[in-house]
Amino acid sequence: MSLWNSRFKKSFDKGALKFSSSVVVDGKLYNEDIDGSKAHVKMLMKQKIVSANDGIAILKALEEIRKEIKSGKLKLDWQKEDIHSIIEERLVDKIGERGKRLHTARSRNDQVALDERLYIRKEVDSIIKLTKIFQRTLLKQAQQHKDTIISGYTHLQRAQPLLFAHHLIAYVSMLERDVDRLNDCKKRANNSPLGAAALAGTSLPIDRQYTAKLLDMNGVIINSIDAVSDRDVLIELISACATIMMHLSRFSEEIVLWSSQEFSFALIDDSFATGSSLMPQKKNPDIAELIRGKVGRVYGSLFAILTIMKSLPLAYNRDMQEDKVHLLEAVDTTKDCLNMATELLKKIRFDKKRFEKELDGNLLLATDLVDYLVGKQVPFRKAHQIIGEIVAVCVDQNKKLNELSIAQYKQFSTKFEEEIFTLLKSKTSVNNKLSQGSTSPVEVEKQILFWKKALK
Ligand code: ARG
Repeated sequence: MSLWNSRFKKSFDKGALKFSSSVVVDGKLYNEDIDGSKAHVKMLMKQKIVSANDGIAILKALEEIRKEIKSGKLKLDWQKEDIHSIIEERLVDKIGERGKRLHTARSRNDQVALDERLYIRKEVDSIIKLTKIFQRTLLKQAQQHKDTIISGYTHLQRAQPLLFAHHLIAYVSMLERDVDRLNDCKKRANNSPLGAAALAGTSLPIDRQYTAKLLDMNGVIINSIDAVSDRDVLIELISACATIMMHLSRFSEEIVLWSSQEFSFALIDDSFATGSSLMPQKKNPDIAELIRGKVGRVYGSLFAILTIMKSLPLAYNRDMQEDKVHLLEAVDTTKDCLNMATELLKKIRFDKKRFEKELDGNLLLATDLVDYLVGKQVPFRKAHQIIGEIVAVCVDQNKKLNELSIAQYKQFSTKFEEEIFTLLKSKTSVNNKLSQGSTSPVEVEKQILFWKKALK
């Protein structure tokens, strides 16, 4: 028996029911559904639409049903169409006619919109928590690498030396915007659609504000059509998840690169690496690769929900039932990946000495020479050109910048003095940076202190 079959002469086709049941997915929202029902019935009691006696019986039975579902005593049967039907039917089973009053002035359209919002509110908090843990792990590694020098890249070509701590903190800072986005999404999600009564509102004297207050929500979605029609808050959350995943994927890509023999910079802990069934020497960074790969799921979810919603006339349409599978997928995947990225990073060892010596005299110090000439009043564009010519000589003669003589330098500009050779060290390059937020130890220390406080 469904909640709606009395106007039909035939029962719903079995195959069609199987096709349209959402229990496997929305069954996961039973807690949210029960919380919403409890608030709704309390409001109906306050408004004297449902008597205190009936209301109390309903409230008690709803808590029992919660326990029955949690313990597995009440099986979530897909033949019941959706979680809202299962709970209401079980309620009537338990307390008879009194249970039939719960759905007064309410539609499943209101319920599902509410359940999703309560779910988003809860999951935003847990994603933020995991993001913060990952940020703290990045910061911890940064603190251990305040004087580890790496090559910085643009286009994956050597650009300028960096402190590794600086590089790690870039991720901390990126992730903080993810946290902002999540908080922002929660602000909008935390409003109640209850009382839309399918779409038009109701002639019964309900109190929508009261229900919202009971659910600890910011307010109600005033327009009853809007309340049941939109899924923009899902799109916001999945989009925030997609951005987190994009960040995690870039981080993973760097772990994969750094752990290659060519980079030889990161050493993944054995407990987070895998081997090959054929090549005995292999040690593969599968966990980082999987995080990078799982981005596909979350981008897929984002595109799916955008597509589902794009041409729907107002108000509710059954297409919208397809939203939850993507919501849950995006949330679960993002949480899993944040968790794994944290565990992986905790145990990685980075080779502090990998780059420093190799970068002394390297062509990536060319910009330091440009700045030197600018300091000697040579116009920037002219200085850039001179150093470019010197780089060309180095490339031709297969030499480092510190392997040319001062006499050779002077052929390009009389401004060059012996002192340039002290500039041609990766450490000096990093130390000489002055600007706010730069890679100098002083600025990096400031950033570390800032994030230590912010992430407390
Ligand atoms: N299972 C539905 C969903 O997830 C609930 C709302 C159903 N409403 C309806 N009128 N069929 O969207």
